[in-house]
Formats: sequence, C-alpha cells, structure tokens
Amino acid sequence: MLILGLESSCDETAAALVTGDRRVLAHRLAGQEAAHAPYGGVVPEIAARAHVEAMVPLVEAALADAGVTLAEVDAVAATAGPGLIGGVMVGLVTGKALAHAAGKPLLAVNHLEGHALSPRLTDPDLGFPYLLLLVSGGHCQLLLVEGVARYRRLATTIDDAVGEAFDKTAKLLGFGYPGGPAVERAAALGDAGAIRLPRPLVGTAEPHFSFAGLKSAVARAVGQHSPEDLAASFQAAVIDCLLDRTRRALDRVEVASLVVAGGVAANGAIRAALSALAADRGLRFVAPPLWLCTDNAAMIGWAGAERFAAGLCDPLDVAARPRWPLDPSAEAARGAGVKA
Ligand code: KG4
Ligand code: ZN
Repeated sequence: MLILGLESSCDETAAALVTGDRRVLAHRLAGQEAAHAPYGGVVPEIAARAHVEAMVPLVEAALADAGVTLAEVDAVAATAGPGLIGGVMVGLVTGKALAHAAGKPLLAVNHLEGHALSPRLTDPDLGFPYLLLLVSGGHCQLLLVEGVARYRRLATTIDDAVGEAFDKTAKLLGFGYPGGPAVERAAALGDAGAIRLPRPLVGTAEPHFSFAGLKSAVARAVGQHSPEDLAASFQAAVIDCLLDRTRRALDRVEVASLVVAGGVAANGAIRAALSALAADRGLRFVAPPLWLCTDNAAMIGWAGAERFAAGLCDPLDVAARPRWPLDPSAEAARGAGVKA
C-alpha cells in the first residue's frame, strides 16, 4: 500500500509518500519562518498564500524522490483540519484534485490523528490502547488511543496550549519564533531553581492543563533574572505540570505504553521526564523521532494508511474543518480560551 500524504494546517507545507509497511519513501517540507518572522507569529493569510505556492512543487519533488508516479499511489491523504482554515483548504483541495484526476480514494485526515498515530509509524510494536500526551502549538491533551479513529480525551488545556506557552515565553525573552527550540537551548544553560514559578492546576482531580498563568508569571519576572534562568525555571514548571497531569490520567486507564507526540515532544527534557515516569510505572515509553514530532506529511500519510487499511475513505466533497476534536463526545473543559 502506497499513500501520498499532504499537510498544510499551520506554517509547514509538506508532502510525503508512506507505505503500509512503515517505509517513508519521501518526505518534503517547506517552512515559512522567514515570511512570518517580522510578525512574531503565524499570519494566516500569509500562510495560506505560501502553501499555494509550495504545495504542487513539493508533491512533484516527493514523487520524484520516491521514484513513483501518481498512478502508483493507492490513496491520497490530506489534512482536513483542525488548523488555519485557509491553509487547510490548500492541502485538502490539492488532495481532492489529485485523487479525482488519478481516480484514487481520498482520506481526509485529522491533523491530531496524524500526531496521535505517528509513534506507530516508527514503532511497529506499539499496540493499542496507549495513553497519549499530545503536546503541540495548538493543543495540549491526554488521550486514550483505543484504535484507529477511536480516541477518548481525558484532558485538555483550559487556556493556552503548551507549545503556545513556549512560544510566548520565547517572545518575552526576546527569542525568535518558533520559540520552543530556543527556550530549550537557553534552559540548558540556566538554573531551573532560580525562580519559583506557579504550577497551574497541579494536584487537581481532573487531569486538565493550564499555562496562561505560568506565562504571565514569566512576563512579571522578565528583567529581574537572566533569560537562561527564566527559560530553565519555565521549562521545569511545564515539566512538573505535564508529569502531574499525566500521572493523574495514568491512574484512570489500563495501558502498557505511555506515548508523547506533537511538536513539543521534540523537547529533550520533557522526553526524559516522561520516560522516567513510564519506567516508574512499569510502562513502555514511546516518542517519535524528532523529525516526526513537529508538523510533517509523513504522519498524515501514515494516518491515511491506517485509515485506508480500516476502510475509512472520504467523499470528494468532504469539508475542511478549522475545529475538529478527536473525541467529539468529550465534555468541554471550562476555561478562558478552551481549544477543541
Ligand atoms: O506539532 P507542531 O509542529 O505544530 C502544531 O500542530 O502546533 O508544534 C509546534 C510547536 C511550537 O509551539 C513549537 O515552539 C513547539 O512545538 N516546539 C517545541 C520544541 N520544538 C518545537 N517546544 C519545546 N521544545 C522544543 N524543542
Ligand atoms: Zn501539529
């Protein structure tokens, strides 16, 4: 089975060719950092235009890298949400056009499902169910992954996503966007005990997350400490929150593996802390390789392969969805800026 995957929900345009037996034949990615840098964050309209320019050449390059033609592809998988609607539409419409022209089935993939299943692309031994900590620029959730298209959301953030907290902290510290990697680098040089920052929601019964107060505390401390000490103290607070909430969720589920995915899963300190927690609980710890943590099309191709194998194709008039929860039955979290 050969799947063409397309991704364009945020600021990465990407195309990949993935097989059903876990081979990534090609994966191409075009970032837009330079286009958004003057604004300190992603500008949706600029992103959508950049996706339009990059998408078709990336598909052509990926097919050439893999040495295959569109006719040899079994299905086309494209991110259909959630994300910036203009960008999502570019990838989805491209996917529809390619599927229609080549007479192939379309797979409309939820971006979060791409992250959620990505650890199975590189770890054939990761079976269902597993507890997933999904940490990205737009989301912070704990999900029980019971199978393909079967997700139970145990917790979400009541305000900012964890990647958003990293990006806002980076901005406060004068680092560029995206801020996660810069904060991690600075944190390695700082003293995590320098500033006592809050650990929002730690100790509460529901395993939800909150990061807005932590970011505000960083804002108040800026100028009084070195950026390195602030970054280290911030990252330590984030890790305490993630560990406490994940422990709480683990108490509620019966799983053999603890899994982390999404852009923030690229953070070495977070990976190490979760790995230690898993070892403590006698669980396997699985994290995708770094290139598979941040947005890419291989994870969309892989989620497409899993859905295709399960017979879950979509009609060509499927709609792009700016909001699209993986578990629509999950109770809404109460909070200031709740994300889907
Ligand atoms: O999954 P992703 O690429 O895009 C979304 O779906 O949101 O995640 C991007 C987020 C950004 O907020 C970025 O700052 C964060 O992941 N990130 C990191 C690291 N690398 C990327 N956060 C902390 N440490 C990192 N090393
Ligand atoms: Zn993502």
